[in-house]
Amino acid sequence: MSSAPPLPVLSVRQAEKRFGAVHALKGVSLEAYRGEVLALLGDNGAGKSTLVKCMSGVYALDAGEIVLDGAAVRIHSPAAARRAGIETVYQDLALFDNLTPSQNFYCGREMSFPAWLPRGLRFLKSRSMDREAAAVLDRLRVGLPNLAAPVALMSGGQRQAIAVARASVFARKIVILDEPTAALGLRESRKVLDLIAQLRSEGNAVILITHNMEHVVELADRAVVLRQGRKVGELKPARSNQKDLVALIVGADP
Ligand SMILES: Nc1ncnc2c1ncn2[C@@H]1O[C@H](COP(=O)(O)OP(=O)(O)OP(=O)(O)O)[C@@H](O)[C@H]1O
Ligand SMILES: [Mg+2]
Repeated sequence: MSSAPPLPVLSVRQAEKRFGAVHALKGVSLEAYRGEVLALLGDNGAGKSTLVKCMSGVYALDAGEIVLDGAAVRIHSPAAARRAGIETVYQDLALFDNLTPSQNFYCGREMSFPAWLPRGLRFLKSRSMDREAAAVLDRLRVGLPNLAAPVALMSGGQRQAIAVARASVFARKIVILDEPTAALGLRESRKVLDLIAQLRSEGNAVILITHNMEHVVELADRAVVLRQGRKVGELKPARSNQKDLVALIVGADP
């Protein structure tokens, strides 16, 4: 075993983001490591989703940088983020309503043949994709009444489960989950939590946003707290310091 400290797989350095008069991120820095769940915490409007979208290519930073495996990168689009190994489950979901779960799974990275043709000219392996997607959803025990139906017809929880399942299939490096259990019942939340633990054990860096302190204490190896766009603390969550964590989030004096 080498004794060199592990390198972060992803670092955010001095991130700045403004939306007109709203200063959403004020010099935020954080590191994510493989095999670790990092909780990103903060009250409503603290800047969590904005930071997620900057890491996943939806927004560009106004200043600061994102470093992947030691190299500063510009992530121009969600597709570029995915190519770089960053899978994201957005709070506002980002499934295509008119597509089936399987089409949502493979949208933008369809299985196709023959390999020697340019992508746009190939035939889609629809049945393989359907079979794979069904197998994954089954493995995760996401019960969907009709796999052939567009996701618009599914419940909030079912949609969320599909989005998490999709990220888990393609995860290679970093998985960002923005409130993945917010719309889920107890049983479904449990499945998602188990899945997060599995993603971690497979060596991914997981960034988890949640307002559920029980989930944070159970799963997170480290927590970074944002308040009004600023990073106000970083600690190792445990039952013994849950109160400190909440105080950091809401800004109460300890
Ligand atoms: N596209 C946008 N245009 C203008 N303002 C925005 C935009 N996105 C976010 N904001 C503002 O930036 C601030 C941070 O919002 P953000 O969505 O990042 O918060 P959050 O921490 O994810 O909160 P929540 O827990 O409610 O999801 C808020 O004041 C919000 O109104
Ligand atoms: Mg948010």
